[in-house]
Amino acid sequence: MQRACQPWVDVDRYIADQLLGDAPVPAHGGLPPHDVSPPQGALLELLARLMGARSILEIGTLAGYSTLWLARALPPGGRLVTLEADPRHAEVARANLAGAAEVIVGPALETLPTLTGPFDLVFIDADKRSNAEYLRWALRLSRPGTLIVADNVVRDGRLVDRGDEDPAIAAQRRFHEMLASEPRVEATTIQTVGGKGYDGFSIALVTD
Ligand code: SAH
Ligand code: DHB
Ligand code: MG
Repeated sequence: MQRACQPWVDVDRYIADQLLGDAPVPAHGGLPPHDVSPPQGALLELLARLMGARSILEIGTLAGYSTLWLARALPPGGRLVTLEADPRHAEVARANLAGAAEVIVGPALETLPTLTGPFDLVFIDADKRSNAEYLRWALRLSRPGTLIVADNVVRDGRLVDRGDEDPAIAAQRRFHEMLASEPRVEATTIQTVGGKGYDGFSIALVTD
């Protein structure tokens, strides 16, 4: 990813200072800085609350930053499951989450078949090349009314560079083609700039 432009960084900091004084502050344990930005984390919490979500699935935990935002939306007795391939990431996340989510370790395409749905919200944020497969699993674990959110689908605009054959980029085009051809979802994609650069996320409502 290109570096973020300074105004994007400054505005993200302004938003966090003005509105997100109670943002989670997990220990990072030296893991890569690939978590959602604070404003995006707050959006995840708001979306989950708008959905009245009682069960949430996350694919891609890292240190549990987005997980902590999602956990805030859950009512007592709610269920939050997060899937992480890297055991070191899962260990850092478990310490940060302190029981707020169930962390399941293993490649998500191996652990997804062990889950029982439906989930009210699914957040896809793991290895980018698998986003289309994760969308298929999200649909399988959905009910009408489930919201599916997928991070990192724009990637500096590389989404629309058809000559870019990086599997992590080509996968975002397949992901969009699947959204377009799937009659069960209404979806859009929002481009984002901020402290993490230029990217975007998709949101899809499962309609039936
Ligand atoms: N959702 C996190 C960021 C996740 S970064 C947040 O916003 O705070 C992406 C994570 O996906 C990394 O921790 C990486 O180890 C994990 N990952 C990569 N491949 C995976 C796979 N096949 N299955 C599950 N997790 C995977
Ligand atoms: C990166 C960013 C992310 O939000 C993520 O989930 C994984 C990787 C990145 O910038 O490489
Ligand atoms: Mg991400």
